[in-house]
Amino acid sequence: MKERIEKLLAEIEELKAQKEQEIEEIRIKLIGKKGVVTQLFDEFRNVMPEEKKELGQILNKLKVSATAKIEELRQLLENEPQAAESEYDLTKPGDRLELGARHPISITRSEIISIFNKLGYAVAEGPEIEDDWHVFGALNFPPEHPARDMQDTFFMSTGVNPVLLRTHTSSVQVRAMEQMKLPIRVVCPGRVSRNEAISARAHCIFHQVEGLYIDKNVSFADLKQAVLLFAKEMFGENVQIRLRPSYFPFTEPSAEVDVSCNICGGKGCNICKGTGWLEIMGCGMVDPNVLESLNIDSKEYSGFAFGMGVERIAMLKWQIRDLRLYFENDIRFLKEFQTSV
Ligand code: PHE
Repeated sequence: MKERIEKLLAEIEELKAQKEQEIEEIRIKLIGKKGVVTQLFDEFRNVMPEEKKELGQILNKLKVSATAKIEELRQLLENEPQAAESEYDLTKPGDRLELGARHPISITRSEIISIFNKLGYAVAEGPEIEDDWHVFGALNFPPEHPARDMQDTFFMSTGVNPVLLRTHTSSVQVRAMEQMKLPIRVVCPGRVSRNEAISARAHCIFHQVEGLYIDKNVSFADLKQAVLLFAKEMFGENVQIRLRPSYFPFTEPSAEVDVSCNICGGKGCNICKGTGWLEIMGCGMVDPNVLESLNIDSKEYSGFAFGMGVERIAMLKWQIRDLRLYFENDIRFLKEFQTSV
């Protein structure tokens, strides 16, 4: 009996199974009602008392290892995917993932920033949820002044200095003037909001890159030259610029910048509405009131600021006709720009 048990023990060690059914067969053969192990236990009853101790021990060992082996085979089968029986063909190629492309706003923003980087401007960023002081107060928009009508926004609180969604990234320039050491030369990219009805030409969110340069002896000629260099880098060497007098509460004098229409070369077409010019940004010399409210001595220092809408620049670059396309998340739109970077 001892030899039979030992032989069985060795056999159990070697057992293998491919399917659930084979494991069940092994179970029945070993520890089922008529299984070999069960039979050995029956025989054990008739063993001589002096053999009982030794045989009992290895017989128990046999039962334990039989049960353990069956469990082990079950585990193995569960963890191993059965390629042959699976309804999935694991050798098939995977599903193709639709690749998008960089958004035209991101492409244009990086391009604008890198042009100004070359001119020595650092990048400054600030919060999209701002307070009234940084968006309006410090920029010479007195409370209740009609100038505030130019940029209506979404208020999140009321009171002396309410919290709101910034309408321009000029608020970041205010933060730069509060925090940075003079001279300051920064560009401020970021998302802004305005309370406007959504149409092909207006949206309640858009993106800007604004810029600020403050130093001793900064003049309007420096502003014009910076704008010209930017326009040439962005729209090509042959572009011309034109400055039209304008009004912003925080700059004096102020101007609107047009570039010659890159579609018709200035002759007049339906993109430039027959004028030959396309408006690209607002700019001006920082109003001394703004400098003083931020503790900068306006007798010693002067500076200029400018601000442009990234959507608008991208529209002119690629002749995108509807602003809403930028925010609709249609992958077909993105694919148009796949080769742009
Ligand atoms: N902040 C202005 C706007 O959003 C643009 C601007 C910036 C104009 C700096 C002049 C100087 O409309």
